Amino acid sequence: MYISSLILQNYRNYKNQIFEFSSGINIVSGSNAQGKTNAAEAIFFLCTGYSPRVTREKQVINYESDWAKIECVAQSESMGKITAAIEFLASGGKKITVNGMSALKTGELIGNINSVMFNPQQLKLVQESPDDRRRFMDIALSQINRRYYYSLQKYKKILTQRNSLLKERDKDLIYQTLPAWDEQLVLCASAIINDRNKFLKELKPLCESAHLTITGGSERLEISSESKYEGSQQQIAEQLYEQLSAKIEKDIEVGYTTVGPHRDDIKIKINGQDARIYGSQGQQRTAALSLKIGEVNIFKNHFGEFPVLILDDAMSELDQSRRKCLLSLLDGVQTIITCTDAESLNITGGKTFKIQAGEIV
Ligand SMILES: Nc1ncnc2c1ncn2[C@@H]1O[C@H](COP(=O)(O)OP(=O)(O)OP(=O)(O)O)[C@@H](O)[C@H]1O
Ligand SMILES: [Mg+2]
Repeated sequence: MYISSLILQNYRNYKNQIFEFSSGINIVSGSNAQGKTNAAEAIFFLCTGYSPRVTREKQVINYESDWAKIECVAQSESMGKITAAIEFLASGGKKITVNGMSALKTGELIGNINSVMFNPQQLKLVQESPDDRRRFMDIALSQINRRYYYSLQKYKKILTQRNSLLKERDKDLIYQTLPAWDEQLVLCASAIINDRNKFLKELKPLCESAHLTITGGSERLEISSESKYEGSQQQIAEQLYEQLSAKIEKDIEVGYTTVGPHRDDIKIKINGQDARIYGSQGQQRTAALSLKIGEVNIFKNHFGEFPVLILDDAMSELDQSRRKCLLSLLDGVQTIITCTDAESLNITGGKTFKIQAGEIV
């Protein structure tokens, strides 16, 4: 699958710009603060309805405008031509259109054009809190299966309600009301955990082999699930019930839910050592990239075609040999690479876009 064109109107520092991408490697280059990440962000937004940089969506509207619109056309082997558009309004609302039909929910956008994005913040995948690793699984799984996205939305809602109930002064009320919440909670939670377990099982060999290739065989990556729940969805549900009732007094004491998929994590090791504690910057970056390449291949396994890969400022900390090995893994994958210096990347055959102040020059 590849994106053939992208139109940005009043989007961040872009006024009106069309990108015509090639189905292979695309290099978006320019000095700092010219709009490279903005373009990458717009693509990811159209694929997932989400941007990791945005806290309020109206932030993407150009300072001098009261609306913004992004639009793209993609070509898929299985689905043919796909179009997606998002219009952002100053009121904070947005209008989504998929294949010319207006969509009521963000969920309808997800799973049409698949994409995997890597940006410098993704180093957090290895370095920081489990939140980032769960978000990694959530974004991938939501694109693979929209049902996952809806289970997750529902789970978050129930969890918030359960947590506010746990803070209730009236203990009898808590004990009377919890079973009804827990029944729904376990239903969503067991589906989420089951999907994540399967995802990690599939991801493991894919990202471990990508890592071996990128490092020219010198580093062994190992990932494992830190989830406490195993087996079928039914078995996971039973284990969750058990845990929830074992922890009920603790949950009331602390005022929030201490068990469930919001506590899952992925353990990442390089050559047998915890990458978070012992990895160098370059090693951590390589590990994060390997996870992303693994994700790219999961999409290929599920849909029979590669997703669009966005590498925003991903190359800067990799040495020449790692860069070359990384590129060797991207045969047949539409890749959009942003960088400040296209020449230093040494890529032959890519289509280059030079960006200056929100325009292709
Ligand atoms: N809503 C907005 N309206 C106008 N300009 C904006 C808006 N949001 C962000 N910008 C500007 O867009 C510019 C380019 O940002 P972007 O993150 O795309 O740069 P970049 O080319 O990726 O730079 P770097 O190499 O530093 O990563 C910034 O100067 C920023 O101030
Ligand atoms: Mg940038």
